Amino acid sequence: MSFQRVFSGIQPTADSFHLGNYFGALKHWVRIQNSGVETVYAVVDLHSITVEAQQDPKQLRRRTLVSYAQLIAMGVDPQKSVLFVQSHVPEHTQLAWVLQCITGFGEAGRMTQFKDKSGKEGTDHTSVGLFTYPVLMAADILLYRATGVPVGEDQRQHLELTRDLAQRFNTRFKKTFIVPEPLIQKATAKFVDLQNPTGKMSKSAQTDGGMINVLDDPKQISKRIKSAVTDNEGVVRFDRANQPGVTNLLSILGAVTGRDPESLVADYDGKGYGALKGDVADAVVGEFEPIATRTRELLDDPAELERLMALGAGRARDIAAPILKAAYDAVGFVGIQ
Ligand code: TRP
Repeated sequence: MSFQRVFSGIQPTADSFHLGNYFGALKHWVRIQNSGVETVYAVVDLHSITVEAQQDPKQLRRRTLVSYAQLIAMGVDPQKSVLFVQSHVPEHTQLAWVLQCITGFGEAGRMTQFKDKSGKEGTDHTSVGLFTYPVLMAADILLYRATGVPVGEDQRQHLELTRDLAQRFNTRFKKTFIVPEPLIQKATAKFVDLQNPTGKMSKSAQTDGGMINVLDDPKQISKRIKSAVTDNEGVVRFDRANQPGVTNLLSILGAVTGRDPESLVADYDGKGYGALKGDVADAVVGEFEPIATRTRELLDDPAELERLMALGAGRARDIAAPILKAAYDAVGFVGIQ
């Protein structure tokens, strides 16, 4: 199936994207863009204030800029793609309201991510925004009449809701929205914590040393990879169950080189883990160092960054405003010239 317009978003919740974001999502964004499809990508800052722990204005500002700059540094071309910051386009919250009014309370309450997150926080500390978050996500997508939405498996249910809302709106009022298809990215590789290879590599990992960020200092990246926990077998095999650390290193190398990680095993015949670690370190540094450098250059030129954000926001609004207007008309809001 070919997709006329692809939309995706990423939250600015960290000071750097990590290895998993890059290989699991962002590289695909660039690939789709370069395949000639019309692509619309957003740094979804509105989504990032749903929990109090993330409501730090200085931090949000910094993370939004660093996320935007990194996307460009990774190859999202602000000329080819529409690349914007969600809060610059007020149509998102405007459409979200309308969609909230056709979403069932129970329907929103069944979102497993909401249940997980609100369970952790307790209802007194759970914001209404966390509850309606998937509806805002639906607005993001429907506002661009996106046909395809690349997301991870964790967002599948939110995409289902988006499809349901599009269909419901279209039948209740007037055919206005396109029902989008999820483009679920099969985790090419699931990366695990370098220090604790039975746990997922994530921001919330217990040890910092288990994680690789795109903007990390190259020396630190090397050091972390070289001190990754392996095992005592001394033979490189692709065996997730028995050699999770070594398998993780092969997966990382596979992701960077574009080769099947199992086929890399042969290269380490008769060699120890040191050789593998060295190659992984060089490969990852080779991939991330230019991105980090370019990101810093962009951040050092705030005027240029702002010009690009304004360009992206303008192009996003050119698409979104008429579609919001169509939705408003369909609902029966009285228009004025
Ligand atoms: N909810 C997504 C996440 O946490 C981010 C997101 C917001 C998104 N709006 C979107 C993804 C629209 C795809 C399309 O990963």
